[in-house]
Amino acid sequence: MEISKRLLPQSHLKEHPSDETKLGFGDILTDHIFKMDYYDGSWCQPRIEPLSPLCLSPAAMVLHYSQTIFEGLKCYRHPDGRLALFRPRDNFRRLNQSAERMAIPLVDEKFLLEALKELLRIEGGWTPSVPGSSLYIRPTIIATEPHLGVRPAKEYLLFIILGPVGAYYKGGFSPIKIYVESFYTRSAPGGLGAVKAGPSYAASLLATEKAARKGFSQLLWLDSVEHRYVEEVGSMNMFFVIDGKIVTSLLTGTVLPGVTRSSVLTVARDLGLEVEERLLDIKEITDAKDSGRLTEAFGSGTAAVISPVGTLCHDDVEFVVADGRVGPITQKLYDELVGIQYGHAPDTRGWIEFID
Ligand SMILES: Cc1ncc(COP(=O)(O)O)c(C=O)c1O
Repeated sequence: MEISKRLLPQSHLKEHPSDETKLGFGDILTDHIFKMDYYDGSWCQPRIEPLSPLCLSPAAMVLHYSQTIFEGLKCYRHPDGRLALFRPRDNFRRLNQSAERMAIPLVDEKFLLEALKELLRIEGGWTPSVPGSSLYIRPTIIATEPHLGVRPAKEYLLFIILGPVGAYYKGGFSPIKIYVESFYTRSAPGGLGAVKAGPSYAASLLATEKAARKGFSQLLWLDSVEHRYVEEVGSMNMFFVIDGKIVTSLLTGTVLPGVTRSSVLTVARDLGLEVEERLLDIKEITDAKDSGRLTEAFGSGTAAVISPVGTLCHDDVEFVVADGRVGPITQKLYDELVGIQYGHAPDTRGWIEFID
């Protein structure tokens, strides 16, 4: 499919942020958007056009039955100026897994990657260069068909928007405080936990707000059946270092298979570290803490790459991990991954894709 282009004249382009050290997350969008429609049984009309508000019927099915999925990945500026994507094929594969679960028509992953690269050839200049900053990429699909009966929509819009985002850690690593949620749950067996669907995020907001009011920046979700097994944290997968081994939750269908999680596991194994993916009882974590065998805890995700956990609170008991500092394994994994993403370390695994 040919991607049609309607681009803004130079004089209408927005000004880029004047101070890249002050960039936040998700407030600034670039000048252009990639769009593609689904109707009459196929994806069609791929196009790049100026970013503008969407025009939707109030009966658009996404507004009523939440048929919407998304992805999140980043474009990094390497020291030689080249723009690099980190494992983008994994994100597009996961987009299709989300589509399948949400009864949304599948997309051609290769074509979508080409479309993203084409958009980045136009918008790549927005990629900031201060350490830790990047261009965030948000592919999204929404059900646009105006119809109020409950069934999968017959019309969809796929779009990709971009925005420069700042370094997650501006003044060095800061370990986060996590609240272990024993009442609310994020996902149930057979539910949406393993895919990136809008409704899961809406369902997580109330519990996260309540924890924030108690001073915790993220929630650790437990399984929804026994309220016992560790699942994941906010928008990150969770890792613990117990007896020197890196342990993370098994992907049982209720946890999002993070691209960063998979990268952490690969890098850790290549570094010769012992890694376990298994059911992880929260009691095992608190016991390991009490007996001094829990030495580090961290989350992994596209936003922060690795987030050290300094404090955990379970059943109103707070305990500090790694003296509230950053453990050596956490630091090593962070340095390895960030090194590859920003082009300071060689990419020996074919994870980087350049925009030519
Ligand atoms: C619920 C959830 N878990 C885990 C992750 C981490 O996934 P990734 O490493 O692909 O960013 C994310 C972020 O996308 C998320 O939203």
